Amino acid sequence: MTIRVDYFLGATDDELHTMGVDRGLLPTRDDWLASLRTDAARPIAERDADGVIWELGDATVGFSTTDRIVIGHEAFMHLHVIMPELRRRGLGTRLVQLSARHYFGKFGLEVLHCEPNALNAAPNRTLQRAGFRYEFSYETTPTPINFPQIVTRWTLRRSELDARV
Ligand SMILES: CC(C)(COP(=O)(O)OP(=O)(O)OC[C@H]1O[C@@H](n2cnc3c(N)ncnc32)[C@H](O)[C@@H]1OP(=O)(O)O)[C@@H](O)C(=O)NCCC(=O)NCCS
Repeated sequence: MTIRVDYFLGATDDELHTMGVDRGLLPTRDDWLASLRTDAARPIAERDADGVIWELGDATVGFSTTDRIVIGHEAFMHLHVIMPELRRRGLGTRLVQLSARHYFGKFGLEVLHCEPNALNAAPNRTLQRAGFRYEFSYETTPTPINFPQIVTRWTLRRSELDARV
């Protein structure tokens, strides 16, 4: 939890803008952590979100969160390699695939979606590379920390995951 919160609170304005995040909408560190802890204490079927830390050896290199979870059906995921120097080496692709496998199993999903900002090339390229299929684009405000933006919906079906990972 602290990794996720500190990642967003420590991001530059450019990094936040690329991710479609409005700094003015970020909660304070204490409020954010308290709300994440409250959510994590709920039974799994009642949680707003879940997630995994990405580790490489002894190092934490990123994380993924999932939300809008409908157990047995669908969920949405997010992807972050936290150290810029570790990006563009294939880690994101592989860790998205591993995270997807985890979410499919944990929540019994049929489909997993991801909706990055349409102008953010890195996740759009990574999701395609990881086996997600482009569905459509639309304007929305994806989460409470985002500004209104065009997002692209990428979808992975359980059968497609099994063929790849
Ligand atoms: C998105 C992210 C997790 C991808 O991780 P990564 O380790 O860099 O991904 P990979 O190295 O596996 O790259 C996958 C593909 O994306 C491409 N790519 C990665 N970063 C890119 C960039 N900045 N611009 C264009 N293409 C990019 C790679 O070239 C590769 O495509 P290819 O195989 O066709 O050459 C990482 O860039 C990141 O954390 N970005 C900041 C956070 C963010 O924007 N998250 C998305 C919020 S929804």
